[in-house]
Amino acid sequence: MAQLKLNLGQQSKLTILTGDCAQLLPSIEKESIQCCVTSPPYWGLRDYDHPNQIGAEPSPEQYVQNLVEVFRHVRQTLRPEGTLWLNVGDGYARNGGTGKRGPNAIVGNTKKLIQKRNCKVPEVWGLKDRDLMGLPWRVAFALQADGWILRSKITWIKKTAMPESVKNRPTNATEEIFLFAKSPAYYYDSKAVRQETGANLRNYWILGPDPSNHGHPAAFPRELARRCILLGSRVGDVVLDPFGGSGTTGIVANDLDRHAVLIELNESYADCARDRVF
Ligand SMILES: C[S@@+](CC[C@H](N)C(=O)[O-])C[C@H]1O[C@@H](n2cnc3c(N)ncnc32)[C@H](O)[C@@H]1O
Repeated sequence: MAQLKLNLGQQSKLTILTGDCAQLLPSIEKESIQCCVTSPPYWGLRDYDHPNQIGAEPSPEQYVQNLVEVFRHVRQTLRPEGTLWLNVGDGYARNGGTGKRGPNAIVGNTKKLIQKRNCKVPEVWGLKDRDLMGLPWRVAFALQADGWILRSKITWIKKTAMPESVKNRPTNATEEIFLFAKSPAYYYDSKAVRQETGANLRNYWILGPDPSNHGHPAAFPRELARRCILLGSRVGDVVLDPFGGSGTTGIVANDLDRHAVLIELNESYADCARDRVF
């Protein structure tokens, strides 16, 4: 496959590619990216309405395998001192419950995959109905086994939690962000983001949502991207987001005088990212 020439001229600091990242990543020049900041779709949650979408696999095991493949390509694009900052969400194995609200309820044109697929408890990992799947850690362990060095688990504490109508467990208000390195001698600028006291940054980040998500249902806050980019890259470096969505990583990277390459499967989100930047 021909290698994509990144346009690093003064004019264009942002490249947005529309398509499947598994197919497009191999066309990016090897060892050209300093850090990857990304949040793939969570398994079984939203329908991004495309046959190649990640997250709609029939089994969470296939989801983990697909992510391992995507991030294997990402590793090849990273410089030897490059890092991957990965935000992945969890979910519950569900079954039964055919009433108006149960997971098997008929819910019309919902964007919720787990309801659409008339779900059954996935036959993997001994999961039972209502089991928390532990997907972030399953992905992290699979990436470790594939060659990544897992350096940190940052807990993103959400100032505004997604409402959940549950009465038998606490409401989820945290997510994981993993820091992976390609090699032991990776770049990390510990002075770029500090605690308010001046101490070394802690691995829990209390962040609120941005005022607008620009029409994307799962955009992460700009501050999340800002911290990862400042810690993982220098001015002039190239930052990658293979699940670009509404372009948050690219916009923040540009604000911080980095170049950025985004890949997004869904044309309307890629257009939204272009509108936000150009
Ligand atoms: C959680 S969202 C990312 C949101 C982004 N961080 C933002 O702030 O807007 C995941 C995105 O991955 C896209 N996506 C799903 N499968 C993909 C694939 N195979 N290749 C590229 N993008 C994909 C979806 O369309 C969705 O916009």
